[in-house]
Amino acid sequence: MISDFPAVWLRDNCPCPECRDPRNGQKLFGITDLDPRIHIVEADGLSVTFSDGHTSRFDPAWLAAHTLDGTVPDDRTEDAKELWATVTPPEGNWPRFLADPHHRQECLEAVFRTGFVLLREVPAEPGAVLEVAGAFGYVRETNYGRLFDVRVEATPVNLAFTGLPITPHTDNPYRDPVPTVQLLHCLSNAVDGGESGLVDGFHAASLLRAENPGAFELLTRTPVTFRYGDAGTELTASRPMIGVDPLGRIREVRFNNRSLQPVRLPYERTEAFYAAYRAFAEILYRPELQVNFRLGPSDCVIFDNTRILHARTGFSDTGDRHLQGCYADLDGFAGNLAVLRRRNAVVERLRALFEGPGADDYLGEEVTQAAHMLQAAACAREAGAAPGLVAASLLHDVGHFTGEITGHDLMGGTDNRHSHVGADWLGQWFGPEMTEPIRLHVAAKRYLCAVDGSYHDLLSEASRYTLGVQGGPMSPREVAEFEAEPYAQDAVRLRRWDDEAKDPGREVPPFTDYAALLHSLIR
Ligand code: OGA
Ligand code: ZN
Ligand code: ZN
Repeated sequence: MISDFPAVWLRDNCPCPECRDPRNGQKLFGITDLDPRIHIVEADGLSVTFSDGHTSRFDPAWLAAHTLDGTVPDDRTEDAKELWATVTPPEGNWPRFLADPHHRQECLEAVFRTGFVLLREVPAEPGAVLEVAGAFGYVRETNYGRLFDVRVEATPVNLAFTGLPITPHTDNPYRDPVPTVQLLHCLSNAVDGGESGLVDGFHAASLLRAENPGAFELLTRTPVTFRYGDAGTELTASRPMIGVDPLGRIREVRFNNRSLQPVRLPYERTEAFYAAYRAFAEILYRPELQVNFRLGPSDCVIFDNTRILHARTGFSDTGDRHLQGCYADLDGFAGNLAVLRRRNAVVERLRALFEGPGADDYLGEEVTQAAHMLQAAACAREAGAAPGLVAASLLHDVGHFTGEITGHDLMGGTDNRHSHVGADWLGQWFGPEMTEPIRLHVAAKRYLCAVDGSYHDLLSEASRYTLGVQGGPMSPREVAEFEAEPYAQDAVRLRRWDDEAKDPGREVPPFTDYAALLHSLIR
């Protein structure tokens, strides 16, 4: 395994705390700090000693995940996308987007893979588009402001601000870097016409590559200049219409007939360029490659402006049509999506426990463990407990399913220490406000048995049985130690809800009601 990697690579990627700051994983040295003649003097399994005297130990799973196979992670290229000729517009719903992290992920995945999402029910109020952009990234302010109004103007600085039709284009190609995400939010659209259309520029470019490879090549290698100017603005950028990454994968399309400037190639190459430009445009303008829809008030379309071209049909310039748009960027967007994926995966894992073993196991009670935990969470919520304690109530018994010793072993007389097992397992993702009340919820039973004379009679038969396995009522010294624990009071509250949550007749909200709450607690 070690021999699959050159010495310089291994030395550069040493994971030890001298080489990488354990608080953030950042590397503490640079390439010029390494001896150019670095070599391995001794390799013992996954432990390597180098000629500079440093010894590194590598994790086999980490090495396996970083094999030297030429992989370049780049989510922006055609390889990471689902190219389309036509597609049913992926739809989202703004109130759900805000309330439900799972739906939020679906919407962002659509922009990531399909290139756009049509978000409904964004209040048709001025400025709302900025809130949408802010919910997944950062608004990119431009010379048009933080947002721009698209409506008919008396002296339009841009043809978008007339009633003219606008052919498929990407926005702001005269900017470098170009705004990579665009939003258009409809406040009103009471005109004849003014329909929207979108085209997948990556798909069109891939068709050009297949149908006319020479034209494709030429457009990837010929920078052209785009310009925008008004009284206070002068912007130009020169880039190829089709941008490819160093491996030749389509990565960016810039196409805007309104702002393209005179090309200044030698005579013969000028004609070849025009032929290629026309060939690409003819594909982009094919009606069968365009998805058409009508934006109504409170609809907001979010799209990848490096890939998706947008268009609109003309409309009479007397009626009332008003869109607001703004820009954002794909880097913030992608980071947000990656965090959502990570957090939603945790919530999904927890949900699976409720639907799987939690729904099957009774562990001596009249309700399943899933129903029991949902009831405890409902009690906590009704009592107005803080989010961490509601989540702790919801998950307090997961240790029955995540450890090697199960809840069934506990019922058989072996303490499975489920409070500690659950708290440690959840500690991978959650903070002490949720894990520590869980850790102490069995201790809290032993505590209450010692300090509250009426408590023992409230316990279910199974709880009274496990009390013995778990150590019985606390001694006075244990009571004092328990009371000194920072989360003791939360654990006692959780314990009371725990004992109450065993009612076979009680209907409570399902697990999904807590998804957003759990999501917000993940570190
Ligand atoms: C724009 C634009 C489309 C529309 O403002 O960039 O293309 O539907 N507008 O008005
Ligand atoms: Zn536009
Ligand atoms: Zn319980």
